[in-house]
Amino acid sequence: MSQILEKCLSAGKTFTSSSDICPICKKIKSECRPLSHPIVLTPEQTEDYKRWQDSWETFGKKGKKSPAELINQTSGNVVYYTPQIILEAARKTLGEFDLDPASSEQANKFVRAKKFYTKEDNGLSRSWFGRIWMNHPFSRTENALWINKLVNDYDQGNIKEACCITYACTSEKWFRPLFHYIQCFLSPRTNYLLPDGSVYKGVTKGSVVTYLGINRQAFADNFCELGAIKT
Ligand SMILES: C[S@@+](CC[C@H](N)C(=O)[O-])C[C@H]1O[C@@H](n2cnc3c(N)ncnc32)[C@H](O)[C@@H]1O
Repeated sequence: MSQILEKCLSAGKTFTSSSDICPICKKIKSECRPLSHPIVLTPEQTEDYKRWQDSWETFGKKGKKSPAELINQTSGNVVYYTPQIILEAARKTLGEFDLDPASSEQANKFVRAKKFYTKEDNGLSRSWFGRIWMNHPFSRTENALWINKLVNDYDQGNIKEACCITYACTSEKWFRPLFHYIQCFLSPRTNYLLPDGSVYKGVTKGSVVTYLGINRQAFADNFCELGAIKT
């Protein structure tokens, strides 16, 4: 018993030639848009989503935000979970996620990091290590804190490798440290998941995945079908 979420993610098709046809959208490589493919949830994921529904209903009643407010996420209340296809490309690159420094029990059902820090832990105040997946809570005041800690911990050798997803805020000061690393500018716009499992379609910015580590070729290979690679 599985559930299909409209316009979410795909099965990570690898094309071997330009005439190869994607089994999902039946298009050739240049026309295939994996980020717009539907995702089929496993029965376990479907059950998880049902459980999240209740907490999301409660949250929603507290007041939904306009798209602009959601983009800026000034309150830090809104959580956007990472689409599975992006997590899987990052997992292929890193092997496993030793740590997700910004997460929750629900989110980690998908991220499957060996260890994760929650809001209650305050991941910013903890030690970071190993291979990291990061999709931090986006807020104007906190962006620089999360990005600077990631880059500093990598430079100091505390972190072995990392993939992090952010909005492609290329003109913002907090984003600049990420320019030093290989990146995939995702295309089309990434539709993140809301805690009830639905796809949030109001995102008005593109997203980018940045890789910190020595396996740059692996990152490029695993992400090249999801967007444009900047070395
Ligand atoms: C954008 S969501 C990403 C969730 C997950 N890492 C993913 O990639 O799907 C950010 C998560 O960070 C959590 N969070 C918020 N503030 C935090 C903090 N100070 N320390 C750790 N986690 C935090 C939120 O509850 C939320 O689950």
